Amino acid sequence: MAKIKVRNTGEWIEGEENVRSFLEKQTVLYEHWDPTKLPERLQENFDLSAEDKNEILSTFGDEIKDLAQRRGYRTWDIVVLTEQTPNIEELLKKFEQVHTHTEDEVRAITAGEGIFIIKGDDSVGYFDVVLSPGDVISVPEGNPHFFTLTDARKVVAVRLFIETEGWIAHPFEDPAFVK
Ligand SMILES: [Fe+2]
Repeated sequence: MAKIKVRNTGEWIEGEENVRSFLEKQTVLYEHWDPTKLPERLQENFDLSAEDKNEILSTFGDEIKDLAQRRGYRTWDIVVLTEQTPNIEELLKKFEQVHTHTEDEVRAITAGEGIFIIKGDDSVGYFDVVLSPGDVISVPEGNPHFFTLTDARKVVAVRLFIETEGWIAHPFEDPAFVK
């Protein structure tokens, strides 16, 4: 289940209801899928064949279609990031820059962990959302953010897009952001 750290205060927000209401106030979509729907061999597996990826997508087929229908996504795929990913250090360095997109950035974690660092409203500032299997999040269109891995450095996630070009990152220079 997701947990949140508010950077300005160091406060942790935990528990499904607290996380949900915090994110709702920040207009960040948060939902939860049942990660145990996946066959055991695909849970916490980061060495996935093309067939495995298709099986993950079909396991969550109903959830994906439901989300796509509600929010207009037209394509989806699976992304895997681990220490074995070529150029992982460079990729993470590139990821770890505050940016925006012209469409929302939606991810459903199916294995491992990931962190979205998101700019909240003026009273909140930046906060980290630490995601684990089953967590589904969507960073609103135009909202400054970036993504990174936890120390475990591995994640599998479903990505959904309205237009694949919508995911192009536009750098967002923000003096308010402190690493
Ligand atoms: Fe992004």
